Amino acid sequence: MQQAHKPFSSAPLHPCCLNDKSLTGHDIPRSLHPSLPLTALAPMQDVTNLWFMKVIAHYGSPDYFFTEYFRVNDTSRLNRHILASITENDTGHPVFAQMIGESIPDLVRTAKELCSYNIAGVDLNLGCPAPRIYRKNVGGGLLLLPEKVDRILGELRQAVNDRPLTVKMRVGFENTDNFYEILDMINRHSIDLLSLHGRTVKDMYHGAVKYDLIGEAVRRVHCPVLANGNIHSAKTALEVLSQTGAAGVMVGRWAIGNPWLFNQIRQALRGEAIAPVPLVEVRNYIERLWQTPTAATMPERARVGYLKMFLNYIALSIDAEGHFLRLMRQTQTEAELFNLCDRILLTDLTKTLALAPSLSV
Ligand SMILES: Cc1cc2nc3c(=O)[nH]c(=O)nc-3n(C[C@H](O)[C@H](O)[C@H](O)COP(=O)(O)O)c2cc1C
Repeated sequence: MQQAHKPFSSAPLHPCCLNDKSLTGHDIPRSLHPSLPLTALAPMQDVTNLWFMKVIAHYGSPDYFFTEYFRVNDTSRLNRHILASITENDTGHPVFAQMIGESIPDLVRTAKELCSYNIAGVDLNLGCPAPRIYRKNVGGGLLLLPEKVDRILGELRQAVNDRPLTVKMRVGFENTDNFYEILDMINRHSIDLLSLHGRTVKDMYHGAVKYDLIGEAVRRVHCPVLANGNIHSAKTALEVLSQTGAAGVMVGRWAIGNPWLFNQIRQALRGEAIAPVPLVEVRNYIERLWQTPTAATMPERARVGYLKMFLNYIALSIDAEGHFLRLMRQTQTEAELFNLCDRILLTDLTKTLALAPSLSV
């Protein structure tokens, strides 16, 4: 059994079994912070590409990155843009390659192909909640088909025999009927790392995250578990680690809103005071986000729209009243958007980004 990591709130260090060979015999990559619990940036389609991984690494990298999912079917080929987040990744941090699919021969073929690249491991998506995806019995849809999951994991384990095979999943489709059975498969097939979003597929991204179920998974599986879902501040990360005993945390949307979060989590774990981020730095972050690799060819409207997707999260830590959020959503042009940013972010240089987003705005 993996050793539970007990409260982190004050004493930062804990026995970390992760940087030794895992019980299943495959190495998961060493953390650059071996005395601390792991951190990972959650995979997010249309967000966690090479460029965004580099942006996040600039502000304080997580231990692990995960690619957006590679779609796998009988005609699929490795998407070259997603592949670039592996082959051109100079962040110095390991990248797990995620796949989504249900065709076993094609998953095996793709996993083998991915293994010819410098990946930390192959990750299987068992959680995507988009109806057009799960209706094809892939992603979260597979949680309704435990026997299929069993076969997929068995075949993938044979194919990925010299490096980590990992799973990212939710606690169930609409209930936890298959949860424990699938956790037992994780053990049976010697899965090396489990990232667990503590919601069902039907919950989508709403409602309470069931950290108690993540705790149950930590106690049941032999591999390290990354707790995922609504970890939006260093304080929440510490609470979730303490409550679940997880080996680490995986953060998605809230790293978009606060790319300093991984550093802040490490500061908190070490018992250090968290350095507040001046809003002027946030203005620089927004400028960095504006400079997407495709910026030169993107129409202004689309570019503004893409930036707003990031700003929807950032805004929640700028003011608790939702003032910036409302005004930002009304802007349509680059000039309007950046005038607003300057007005709100650069007028009072003593203001800082909140340590947690205001989720009620
Ligand atoms: C825009 C977006 C895209 C996502 N794409 C993926 C994906 O490709 N693969 C995956 O396993 N999860 C994906 N997720 C789910 C996240 O990895 C994560 O599990 C979820 O957002 C909960 O974590 P959070 O509260 O820290 O954001 C996506 C989430 C969002 C918001």
